[in-house]
Amino acid sequence: MEAMRILMDEHQSLAAIIHAIRYMIKEIGEGRLEPDHKLLKAMVEYLDAYPEKRHHPKEDEFLFGPLRARTEEGAEVLAHLEREHAEADARIKTLEAALARYQAGEPCGFEAFSEAFDAYAEFYRLHMMTEEREVIPLLIKYLTPEDWARADAGFAANRDPMGGTRNAGGQEDFGRIFSKLVAAAPAPIGLGAGPYKDD
Ligand SMILES: [Fe+2]
Ligand SMILES: [Fe+2]
Repeated sequence: MEAMRILMDEHQSLAAIIHAIRYMIKEIGEGRLEPDHKLLKAMVEYLDAYPEKRHHPKEDEFLFGPLRARTEEGAEVLAHLEREHAEADARIKTLEAALARYQAGEPCGFEAFSEAFDAYAEFYRLHMMTEEREVIPLLIKYLTPEDWARADAGFAANRDPMGGTRNAGGQEDFGRIFSKLVAAAPAPIGLGAGPYKDD
């Protein structure tokens, strides 16, 4: 079940990245860190390009779709998660707008951006938890070896360049996460890491 391993790895990486970004925003808020506007923009572009545009579509196509074809169990939670996947653009637009207002120097722009990011983080915590607790057990129960073979190939073909990111907790780790993040953001901000920049 390579697909499952990649899915969990992408969830853990995203949780580590979100944790690092919240730490950075807190440090900016407390005046201990100068905002790096290129990094902030890279972060939103990365979230759009990979978690939103690659990770969820892989789940829809290679896991949720086949599960729905095998059983009616879990139909409600799948509908809920698919609706959340479909709201990706709106989520990113809200974050982009808050960042733009902050970067334009609007009054309370920083506080509003910080709140928008907290809401984004909380959304992901719940979304990933629901997938892991409610959907994964059903996948294990109902998907056939053929379903898994297709899912394994689909997940392996479209990997997140931030995969394997872990938080050991130190400030140095955050620095490493952020340089990876800038590199992983699509051009022209980042390098559009690896072979996955083809769309
Ligand atoms: Fe998802
Ligand atoms: Fe997910």
